[in-house]
Amino acid sequence: MIIGVPRESYQGERRVALVPATVPALINVGLKVLVERGAGDNAGFPDLAYEEQGASFATDRSQLFSSVDVIVQVSSLKSNPDVAHSGQIIVGLLNPFAAPEVVRGLAEKGVTAFALELLPRISRAQSMDALTSMATIAGYKSVLLAAERLPKMFPMMFTAAGTLTPAKVFVVGAGVAGLQAIATAHRLGAVVQAYDVRPSVREQVVSLGAKFLEIELEAKGAEASTGYAKAMGEEFYRRQRETMKQAVVEHDVVITTAAIPGKKAPILITQEMIEGMRPGSIVIDLVAEAGGNCELTRPGETVDLNRVTILGPVNLPSTVPYHASLMYAKNVTAFLQNLVKDGQLQINMEDQIIRDTLLMHKGEIVNAQVREMLGLATSTVEGSRP
Ligand code: NAI
Repeated sequence: MIIGVPRESYQGERRVALVPATVPALINVGLKVLVERGAGDNAGFPDLAYEEQGASFATDRSQLFSSVDVIVQVSSLKSNPDVAHSGQIIVGLLNPFAAPEVVRGLAEKGVTAFALELLPRISRAQSMDALTSMATIAGYKSVLLAAERLPKMFPMMFTAAGTLTPAKVFVVGAGVAGLQAIATAHRLGAVVQAYDVRPSVREQVVSLGAKFLEIELEAKGAEASTGYAKAMGEEFYRRQRETMKQAVVEHDVVITTAAIPGKKAPILITQEMIEGMRPGSIVIDLVAEAGGNCELTRPGETVDLNRVTILGPVNLPSTVPYHASLMYAKNVTAFLQNLVKDGQLQINMEDQIIRDTLLMHKGEIVNAQVREMLGLATSTVEGSRP
């Protein structure tokens, strides 16, 4: 079995799906690794480093695509119009809910594809959890973006020119990205407050040195059995906006990460709240691509209103390509190791990790949610995701 690592071709993408350090682990389980020349250049991994770890090189991109059994990529669907031949396997972040039509196009090529976004959040899958890796980076980087733009410094300082009070940071949504944002802002010396609809995260927020915002909001039932938040209905969000308003206007930086998997993000920050913020304040909306938590957010753009800046950054992990690739490569390698038995990839539908991540099998879309979005009848593939 040959694993192929193409150069990412999606605009602005600097990550690479496998790094040299992960190659030996794949060779050890009987796989070969074929790399497109220059694939790791933008992330800081030169060809020579892959070669030293036992990888080979394709003569060109089309030879890579035509000769490998498995293609691993970071943003496969977005970046990969030249993808795959029938029977090939694709592993990557495939953005299935945001782009179901693209998924349909890929299925028409007859491939088998695993979307790492669908990985269950169970302990056995932790080492493969690419969303968690990428959200960690996004949370960290969001604070740096805010610190760079804020006309204040983050830490408290006692200087001969007087005492400077610390910046105040409010993080909405304390999942992976939010917790990392809290930790980073706290390390930079800001005073941090956070809120999440899942009461179970309060302890983690406090352990990172932040205060949990206490608002009167009945959030019972906000957590699904998967551990993710559930969509709560417009009346809930209206009350949340009302009770959170004071906290928003009192802070210098608001970082929002409140996402509901597969759904549009709820609007939690309104124009009226922005108008109440002090000039120079910053909003970083990490869920811009899912519609945004702030009603003024535009994905990939910077919006200014009364000197309050709203950023909707997309693909922050790609701005830290070395570590993002390293983490992603470890996740993908662990995923592939779980797929391989005796040097052959085996799609064992008894395994929840394989069953949940399998987006399409030999051209048939098997994920129920994507099928529903595309108006398809229930899949006939045995054991596919209910
Ligand atoms: P997650 O699902 O672990 O965290 C989302 C958190 O928001 C959960 O803790 C959830 O309980 C909370 N939440 C949901 N509704 C809420 C509400 N109404 N009020 C307060 N909290 C609420 O997701 P994760 O991994 O932390 O990622 C967060 C977001 O960041 C995701 O949408 C992800 O796509 C995005 N992201 C953005 C990147 C970028 O470059 N902009 C890169 C990586 C991730």
